[in-house]
Amino acid sequence: MASTVQCLNTYYEDRADSRFVQHSRTKFAKQEARALTQRETATCLVVRSVETNAVLATLDIHAPETVSGKPTTGVPEGIDTAAYIMNVTVDEDARGQGIAKLLIDAAAGFAKETWTATCVYVQVAPSNQVAWNLYCTCGFQEASEKDLAATDTENKLLRLDLASFSSSISVI
Ligand SMILES: CC(C)(COP(=O)(O)OP(=O)(O)OC[C@H]1O[C@@H](n2cnc3c(N)ncnc32)[C@H](O)[C@@H]1OP(=O)(O)O)[C@@H](O)C(=O)NCCC(=O)NCCS
Repeated sequence: MASTVQCLNTYYEDRADSRFVQHSRTKFAKQEARALTQRETATCLVVRSVETNAVLATLDIHAPETVSGKPTTGVPEGIDTAAYIMNVTVDEDARGQGIAKLLIDAAAGFAKETWTATCVYVQVAPSNQVAWNLYCTCGFQEASEKDLAATDTENKLLRLDLASFSSSISVI
């Protein structure tokens, strides 16, 4: 649920003056809560402040098909050992301190260690320059032409190879 609240805050942070925001937040919260109960093979990673215990950042990582037994949303067809990252958000006041970079590093390490994933995919809007920079800094590269068929029209599909990846961060 921490992830849902974080996502809602981030999604609507630029639209605080819209009169439809509260209605949309309620609708989105119900939709996410329903989705959470069906998400048996996704894991939500949460970063909390040591001082206040407040949630600073979250992401969801979906298991590869080899673990879940069904195709992983967002992963190109036929690749059954890939994990998929979504809903990466860092609290507005905690940005620019390397938290997202650490979280993605931890998620990639978790996918490799726990699920023996060989790679991780993520989709990003090219207009989201900060997110684009983030994934490039973390070692993601644009997916191949073959893989691009799986992407929706507005977003780009990025891939991080885990063959020689090792994370120094443990997930607890
Ligand atoms: C994108 C987001 C998760 C980044 O979180 P963050 O904790 O501030 O990012 P980090 O401090 O770990 O920065 C990692 C990299 O991102 C890039 N980056 C971060 N802030 C940036 C900025 N203001 N401008 C340009 N690039 C930036 C840099 O490449 C940085 O690496 P560097 O410090 O080595 O240069 C955060 O801005 C956010 O929650 N945005 C709203 C939600 C969103 O867009 N999520 C991504 C959906 S695909």
